[in-house]
Amino acid sequence: MMLLTSGQVSMAISSGIVFIFTLVLFLSGYVLQQRTVHSLQAAIKPRLPKPLPAPEPIAPPALNVKWARPMGGRPEPDEGLEQFMAEQKLNWNQLGYVQMVRDPEELCSAVMLLGDLHGARSPAKKILLFPRPWVKEAEDESWDPQRDTTRRLLRTAALRYGVVLMPMKPIVDGADDSLPSSYSLASLYLLTDYERIISLQGPGLLLDASALDSLLAFSKSEPMAAYPATPDRKDLSTNLLLVHPSAETYRQLKESRSSQPMTDLDLFRQSFSVPESLISQWSLSIGNLIYESTRLRDAIDGFNATVFEEATAYVRFSDPEIPGPEYDIPYFEKAAIRPKNNEARAVWEGLYEKFRQRRMEVCGLDLEVWSKPMLEPEMSESNDVEDL
Ligand SMILES: *[C@@H]1O[C@H](CO)[C@@H](O)[C@H](O)[C@H]1NC(C)=O
Repeated sequence: MMLLTSGQVSMAISSGIVFIFTLVLFLSGYVLQQRTVHSLQAAIKPRLPKPLPAPEPIAPPALNVKWARPMGGRPEPDEGLEQFMAEQKLNWNQLGYVQMVRDPEELCSAVMLLGDLHGARSPAKKILLFPRPWVKEAEDESWDPQRDTTRRLLRTAALRYGVVLMPMKPIVDGADDSLPSSYSLASLYLLTDYERIISLQGPGLLLDASALDSLLAFSKSEPMAAYPATPDRKDLSTNLLLVHPSAETYRQLKESRSSQPMTDLDLFRQSFSVPESLISQWSLSIGNLIYESTRLRDAIDGFNATVFEEATAYVRFSDPEIPGPEYDIPYFEKAAIRPKNNEARAVWEGLYEKFRQRRMEVCGLDLEVWSKPMLEPEMSESNDVEDL
């Protein structure tokens, strides 16, 4: 007969617990790894019979085969692919990336993004839509540092990055053209010289243009294919819009917007039905076309920075506690919100730092000063409770 001392019993129990935890950890690691392996396989091995035939000579770079699948509501990806490709007349002069800015503060990150697309040798056109008064000679051209910076950045965009400058009018006739709120993303639909355009919401950083080039090149022309706001595809977001410009759609949007003031998001949600006006699930499954920086906080063990950077086309800065990457955030503020996972944190910090550097290189601008807004009393209380 064996008698266990209480010490042995608790030892046995605790080693049992350790064993179970180790097993759980192992299993979750295994599942994660399998998932990563599967998504990697999906990313590097598209189910194509052979490399894509180029329907017409394509300006450099050749599209990355990993992304090169036709987009749009095609239920059977591989069926009739070659025919679909053959029918595609790729004219890069009719495909473009558009940045619409309505406030001078947004101009630098718009120019940065178009500059990064230029640097990535995207063959599509780069277009900048901005309020017409920015280039109108005022009666008294007294010294105005803001206006000088605006004009300097417009010149940089055109001369250094070959950006097409498109002044726009307010969406509602007779609206005050000096107010940012008078302008709308609906103006994208006026760019009828283009067959398809992509609008990305800034501020963000481009990691890989080829995924977006492929989306632009191999999609069907539809009035609207928007990035879904949530994975359940119940709403559209304006993070990424793939648009076929048409005067008729513009007229409808202008009419809705003239009837009552509303945000672009509300205007588009009211005007386009989901899920028909969303980018297809299948197009999204090839990788992270858009990744919101705040999601890096959800990264769990097994997050791999290399894999992330290879599979992500564009990161939008979206951390709600801070106003944006244009601002100089005190170290302790950043430390409080940065991701806990080591690899994800390095990516997150690297993105903010790269944005800061590009801002200086492209726009010659330093970070803006930011002072943290005072918290509401109830809000700080609820934070305390959560901390406990
Ligand atoms: C991340 O993935 C890359 C490529 O698959 C691999 O070479 C690297 O070792 C991984 N890094 C870590 C920390 O697991």
